[in-house]
Amino acid sequence: MRIVDEEKLDEDIEVESTIRPSTISEYIGQSEVKDNIKVFVEAAKIRDEALDHVLLYGPPGLGKTTLAMIIANELEKNIRTASGPSIEKPGDLAAILSSLEPGDVLFIDEIHRIPRFIEEILYPAMEDFTLDIVVGSDSSARSIKIDLPPFTLVGATTRAGDITSPLRDRFGIVCKLKYYTNEELKLIVERTSRVLNMPIESDAAMSLAKRSRGTPRIANRLFKRVRDFALVDGKEKIDLKTTEDALDRLKVDIYGLDEVDHQYLESLINKFNGGPVGVETLASSIGEEVTTLLDVCEPFLLQNGFIKRTRSGRVATAKSYKHLGINYQENLFI
Ligand SMILES: Nc1ncnc2c1ncn2[C@@H]1O[C@H](COP(=O)(O)OP(=O)(O)OP(=O)(O)O)[C@@H](O)[C@H]1O
Ligand SMILES: [Mg+2]
Repeated sequence: MRIVDEEKLDEDIEVESTIRPSTISEYIGQSEVKDNIKVFVEAAKIRDEALDHVLLYGPPGLGKTTLAMIIANELEKNIRTASGPSIEKPGDLAAILSSLEPGDVLFIDEIHRIPRFIEEILYPAMEDFTLDIVVGSDSSARSIKIDLPPFTLVGATTRAGDITSPLRDRFGIVCKLKYYTNEELKLIVERTSRVLNMPIESDAAMSLAKRSRGTPRIANRLFKRVRDFALVDGKEKIDLKTTEDALDRLKVDIYGLDEVDHQYLESLINKFNGGPVGVETLASSIGEEVTTLLDVCEPFLLQNGFIKRTRSGRVATAKSYKHLGINYQENLFI
């Protein structure tokens, strides 16, 4: 498992509840999203109505689940959680919907993975707070309507493109979470250091932030690893040297790129002359899953200008050549 993998690991789940911010004021960064949510939550409370449905999208580990929990907390309502893949039958969703109390938040993670025929149950539920279900079978089958209390659906997805448009259109509030800046990640590292009671020097927190791929989950994970190294060294405060030594040993470079990113860029440059090359070809050349490259490696490499996506495939930029210490000019003559 990659240390910079955005996907959740078991060890994250253990401490997640302690380091996860629970109020909007503790939630660092994403100021645009936060400002909007604050206003909408406030207005819903004043009107004493359920908050409009919210769709949160963005790469893994940027704080979608955290924000969903904060929304419920700020509304002072209960949150029920479900995830797209766990909803296998129409009855699964009907059971969840019919157990909601007025104003409750229903959080559905990976909402793009709900099968289409089940997703259709959500449409009237979201729009009119009614549940249309079919009872009986064959000739005795009939459809009945059940009224639901007003509720707020918070959907989260890493793939906004995979959401069908009828579903997407039923969300009144759509928020895109962005990668965090180094300054924001530094604040997150410092917050985690306070919560976990292990102080960190300011320059060490910044160094850690810079290697966290814009992702709070990675920042927190790297913090925990670095803390282990500091503990073994008998340090009471994490300093820059301990941080950099630890991150080097974990093979996370100054941009937060790990071995898989390096293999990706090296293959793109050395085997395919810097591209263009298709993602499937690249994936098989380094023995990785296409989905890992699509969901984890590429969004960050693209965002940071290491690669470009063209119609004929992926292309390495001058920044990649420079970072790997390969002469960019030479390749222009090939
Ligand atoms: N804005 C933030 N401020 C402070 N900590 C944050 C923030 N966003 C996320 N975190 C931390 O990062 C961790 C990962 O966040 P979260 O689980 O909400 O991500 P996610 O977007 O739901 O990921 P996934 O797509 O994998 O479900 C949380 O445990 C939380 O502690
Ligand atoms: Mg989540």
